[in-house]
Parts: sequence; structure tokens; C-alpha cells
Amino acid sequence: TPAADPSKYIAAIDQGTTSSRCIIFDHAGRIITTVQKEHRQIFPHPGWVEHDPLEIWTNVREVVGGAIAKADLPKDAIAAFGITNQRETTVVWERATGKPLYNAIVWQDTRTEPICEELAAEHGADRFRDRTGLPISTYFAGPKIRWILDHVEGARERAENGELCFGTMDTWVLWNATGGPGRNGEPAGIHVTDVTNASRTLLMDLRTLEWDPELCEAIGIPMAMLPEIRSSSEHYGTIRPRRGLDDVPIAGILGDQQAATFGQACLSPGEAKNTYGTGNFLLLNTGTEPVTSTHGLLTTVAYKIGDAPAVYALEGSIAVTGSLVQWLRDNLGMIRDAPEVEVLAREVPDNGDVYFVPAFSGLFAPRWRPDARGALVGLTRFHTKHHIARAALEATAYQTREVLEAAHADSGVQLSALKVDGGMVANELLMQFQADILGVPVIRPVVSETTALGAAYAAGLAVGYWSSEDEIRENWVEDKIWEPSMDADEREHLYAQWNKAVERTYDWA
Ligand code: G3P
Repeated sequence: TPAADPSKYIAAIDQGTTSSRCIIFDHAGRIITTVQKEHRQIFPHPGWVEHDPLEIWTNVREVVGGAIAKADLPKDAIAAFGITNQRETTVVWERATGKPLYNAIVWQDTRTEPICEELAAEHGADRFRDRTGLPISTYFAGPKIRWILDHVEGARERAENGELCFGTMDTWVLWNATGGPGRNGEPAGIHVTDVTNASRTLLMDLRTLEWDPELCEAIGIPMAMLPEIRSSSEHYGTIRPRRGLDDVPIAGILGDQQAATFGQACLSPGEAKNTYGTGNFLLLNTGTEPVTSTHGLLTTVAYKIGDAPAVYALEGSIAVTGSLVQWLRDNLGMIRDAPEVEVLAREVPDNGDVYFVPAFSGLFAPRWRPDARGALVGLTRFHTKHHIARAALEATAYQTREVLEAAHADSGVQLSALKVDGGMVANELLMQFQADILGVPVIRPVVSETTALGAAYAAGLAVGYWSSEDEIRENWVEDKIWEPSMDADEREHLYAQWNKAVERTYDWA
């Protein structure tokens, strides 16, 4: 492959749970520009979480335009776009108009619990796990599609007739960016997803990497509405030209956690990363064979680069970590911004034996308890908001230890250090406590925007901007390392207390 043109760049669209971003990277994987826009979080009932897909598409257009303008690059400077996204969040729209039938149902939403119970009773949980690597849970897209088809009048029939499209946010963004309904006689957008996003639906066979007709039938999803499943790195289509931008290929798609795994250069079996976002997601690369979990983790596709075989991962998904800090800010008004939680927590030397179990969407990995609800335990009149702030931060670290232990039990891999990224890794108190509670060092790379970077790498590999995965490894540079300093007795005591607190949240909903 000829050396990449240094005057060119790769852009990544990161459509996340709280915001959409466009980040432009250079060949060394360094950030040139970032533009970000938050969207509304819609909570119609307890446990329900929605987004407006049209608002998100408007924001995506705006951040792309904004990033191109801010970087002030020549029209042909972007070699390719990559897309990465909050996974599982489900949109169903009209093929002819692009109009969503219903708001996007977000991954955290628990409304499909009755559907999941029914599926488990009728088919048994293992039928799905064997083929998809997933437990039956409200988390995944399949039951969310089913809910929309059950609740919007006429939707099922229209879906069967091919009038409706389903997509996770990658597919929604790609379809719109490549032409949408095809107004003014122009070709319509392409209806495609990648293997990583498809692996979060409960509808794809992990080994064949195709939609499984039996699973679609079992959940009640007409296959005519499903996008085509492709690799994570290939030329899918071109972005419709807009001001400041020529025809540019879209050439990479990865679910955000898989993108972070790629961006963190976890490219060999046994390598893992942990991302601290609205939730936490630990992914351990297990190579080209899927490993079935017996300890509450998911088996998922990590990435598939063009025609190369798919690489799989074990994943520990934690629903609520950063979004607990958001909740302290937005629902309690306890802090004005996220960094303030660290300021509050530093006012006290320890948690005062208070534990905050943020089971706001039930509990995901490794416990999978949809019946759990959040709890703050151990309070006395002694306690202050400082202890609550501390307990909220510590909750992230304890939950991470749970999934790391499960990953060890499933794979036999004992991590000697944990690579971290995401918004919360700016929190020094949390990172030190994380190292303490795990008993292993925690390492942050220089570019902590690994999610967008991973999508950029996937796109850049497809168009020859990067020539091999070795370049990705070379670009990974350590920024900071936190060494554990807590003694083992204290660590085990805290963790035992946490476990007791978690058990008190069961059987609530
Ligand atoms: O599975 C959900 C995950 O993809 C969401 O990630 O970073 O948008 O909260 P994030």
C-alpha cells in the first residue's frame, strides 16, 4: 500500500447516548477537531428512555458540518468517514419518507420486560444464548423492535410489506447520510449495518454472521425490515456532498464499545479495555472463535475487517456508571457539572460505609437482574452529600471488579493491567480507587477518545489510509498509569460490603 497522503484526514461520527460528535483525526491518530452536540433524553415513564431520531440526525449533520468548517480543510481533505454509535438503541422508520414510526427506544429502556419474560418462558433462555451469545434481556434491540410493531397501529403489516426499515443508530445515520428516502429523484440511502451492531439484536447467528430466520420468527420480527449485515470495514456508500465536502466514502462501522476496543489496540486475544461512559463496558478480545460465558458476560463480535475472519469478545456491560453522575446533577441538583462530583467526594476520607447501587435499568452484567432497582444503603445522620458523591463514584469501580472477575472466570485470562477510556477517566479519584479495588494498575492512553478513533481506524483501513493493524498498535501511547495502593484486607472488606448492598436491591420491580 502506498504511504498515506499526509494532507488527508479521517472523520468519525460518534452517535452516543447523550450526544453526537464528529472528530477528525490525522494519520498519527491525533485529534484535529471535535464538535459535539447533546440531544434530549426523554423519560415518559419510570424505566422508559427514548431519543428523537430526527433531532439526532439534525445534530449529526450539524456536528459534521461544524467539524469540517472548524478544521478549515480543503474540500477533498477527508479520505473517509467512519461511524460509531450507542448500540441496541432501536429506530423503525418509513422507507418512503424517512419518518420514524416512534421515538428511538434506548438501550437502557426496560419496557420490554414482559416480552422478554414471555420469550424466556416459551423458548428457554439458552436457545438465544447458544446462537447469539446473549441472554434474553430488555437491553437488546430485538424485543424493542417487537414492542414498536405491537404498539404502533398497522406497523406489523407494513413491516411485512417491506414499507418499514429497522436500524440501530449506525444504520439510521448511514441511511440518512447516503440519501435517506432519495428525494428529488436521487438514489435512496443504503440500508446496512455491521456485524458488531447486528450482534446486539438477539437476531443474528454469531457464527454465520447472518440474520437467523428462526430467531426472527420467535421474536416476531419480519425479515423484510432488517438491514443487510456487512463487515466493520469496507466501502458502504458515499456521504451526500454538502458544503465543504465532496463525495466521501463511508467505510467503517463499529458499535461504540467495539470501536473503543479497536481504538485501544486490543487486537490480540487476551487484551481488554474498559470504557467509562454513561455505562461501563469491558471487552476482552478472545480471537476468532466465540467463547460462551458461564459467568454472566455476553459473547459479541469485536470487529470484522473486510474479508478477514470476525474477531470475538467477551463483554461485561454495566448499565449505569457515568449516568449516575448525570442523575446527581439533573435529578437531584446535587452538583452543577460532572467534575464537581470529584470535588465533593474528596471532602471525605472514605465512603463512611455507604453504598450506592445504581440499578436504574435493573442490573446488567454479570448479574442480569431486571427486577433490581437502585438503592442507597448504610445511611445515618452522620452522612453528607460528600459520602453520597463518593459512594456514587465507587459504584463504578465495584461494578467493574464484578465484570473483571467474570471475565477471568470465563476466559482464564488474568489481566495484568486494565486499559481505560471514556469521559470518567478524567476523574483521578475514581481511577485511583479503581486500581485499588482491582489490585491491578489502570492505564489511560494519550488519545482517550478511543471510540471515535476506532471507527476512524476501521474506515481508514478500508480506504488504504492506514495499511495494517500494526500502525494502530504503534499509534497507541500510554499517558498515565494508576498503581494500586490499598491493602488487601481493606479491599476485600469494601467489596464484601458492596456485595451485601447489591443483594438488597433484588426483587423490587
Ligand atoms: O450498549 C450501549 C453502549 O453502546 C452505549 O454507549 O457510550 O453511548 O453510553 P455510550
